[in-house]
Amino acid sequence: MSTQHSNGEQAPLLRRGPTANKEQPPVHRSVRAIIYGVLTVIFVVGLIVVSVFWEEVGGIVGEFPKDPEQAARRLLKIAPIIDGHIDLPLVAREEYANNASWLDLEKEVNGHVDIPRLKKGQVGGFFWSAYVACPTDEATFELALTSQQIKTAIGRGRIASLLGIEGGHQLGNSIAVLRQLYLLGVRYVTLTHVCHNAFADSNGVQPGIIPRWNGLSSLGVSLIHEMNRIGMLVDLSHTSDETARQALKLTQAPVIWSHSSSRAVHDVPRNVPDDILAMIGTDAPGKVDAVVMVNFNPPFVANPGNATVQTVADHIDHIAEIAGKNHVGLGSDYDGIAETPKGLEDVSKYPALIAELFRRGWTRFELAGLTGRNLLRVMDGAERVAQELQDLGTEPSYDIYDKRKDVGTRIDL
Ligand SMILES: *[C@@H]1O[C@H](CO)[C@@H](O)[C@H](O)[C@H]1NC(C)=O
Ligand SMILES: *[C@@H]1O[C@H](CO)[C@@H](O)[C@H](O)[C@H]1NC(C)=O
Ligand SMILES: [Zn+2]
Repeated sequence: MSTQHSNGEQAPLLRRGPTANKEQPPVHRSVRAIIYGVLTVIFVVGLIVVSVFWEEVGGIVGEFPKDPEQAARRLLKIAPIIDGHIDLPLVAREEYANNASWLDLEKEVNGHVDIPRLKKGQVGGFFWSAYVACPTDEATFELALTSQQIKTAIGRGRIASLLGIEGGHQLGNSIAVLRQLYLLGVRYVTLTHVCHNAFADSNGVQPGIIPRWNGLSSLGVSLIHEMNRIGMLVDLSHTSDETARQALKLTQAPVIWSHSSSRAVHDVPRNVPDDILAMIGTDAPGKVDAVVMVNFNPPFVANPGNATVQTVADHIDHIAEIAGKNHVGLGSDYDGIAETPKGLEDVSKYPALIAELFRRGWTRFELAGLTGRNLLRVMDGAERVAQELQDLGTEPSYDIYDKRKDVGTRIDL
């Protein structure tokens, strides 16, 4: 409505105003003023509501075509389909090798769904269903994320499958990546591979590697706290001796050597020296629960040509002698080594090693520890420590590697 018109409507009211004042007591005047005020507010609010929602309701009200086909088109134009379940990802997986370039949705796709047909069908949205077939009873492998899940998988006759990351360099210098890897199911991180990284020094390949941090960097200290807090096992294989000593002093949770043997038995940097083995245990204050999982790689086991079931057993015996039989396990490095010991050529040969240790007087209980229960105890321990730290409200570590260029320094605004 025009301003002029509204003035014209209001003018008589204003002119009659004084007369009305004489006829009516003041209380009536104020009641009227309130009613007019409320009506005005309702009118204005109504205008706003209608203008906001007109777009949506506008198409639905009014005349619709009599022909149902045309009516459907008209309806979908204003109320397009939102489908709850479309298995397009399955088609990508089964018909197009999961290759997003090959599955060209602009063209005609093998199946029910592509962009031309989505437009033709007036689809406004849909859930892309992520699906793979239910596991059958014949499944061999089963993902395990906890010590309990390992036991459950084994109880079902499956092979429990766990994930470990070998080398802190794979965290890209970022403690945040550690948390992401945990969420993806990773349950140990080897602090270093053969190179130093932002967190810790490696023991390299040959003796005499020059240290960079003399053990852990300050970021490495934060990393271990964070690993303890989230329940990621600290793996000390490949680390420098000083890294291992510092990590053992620092960690609140049990640790592992995922694939290392004894340096006293065969002197290479990759093996664990006796003074560090002596820090392992649960029988004295200051010792740390751990499991040293013996590596079968012939160059770590014996002089050339002398790696056998017996020499591998020598490593196991020695670690058991210094650290205790509860602190030794198996970490063969199969598929990661160029040769194998005589009698331990592949994963079918573990029984030969267990037989050798029976011959050496190990009891069945001790051997059950070696084959797996020592690792389960250590995992249990790490899970418990993580739970305790989280129950205490321990803060995550947000420490940033000081050489990173991609993270801005804080600016106080
Ligand atoms: C994925 O599909 C594209 C397009 O067909 C093809 O060029 C490419 O080689 C495929 N990649 C793989 C890994 O198969
Ligand atoms: C290999 O082991 C045998 C038997 O223990 C020993 O006599 C021989 O000296 C060893 N060879 C090397 C190169 O260590
Ligand atoms: Zn390795």
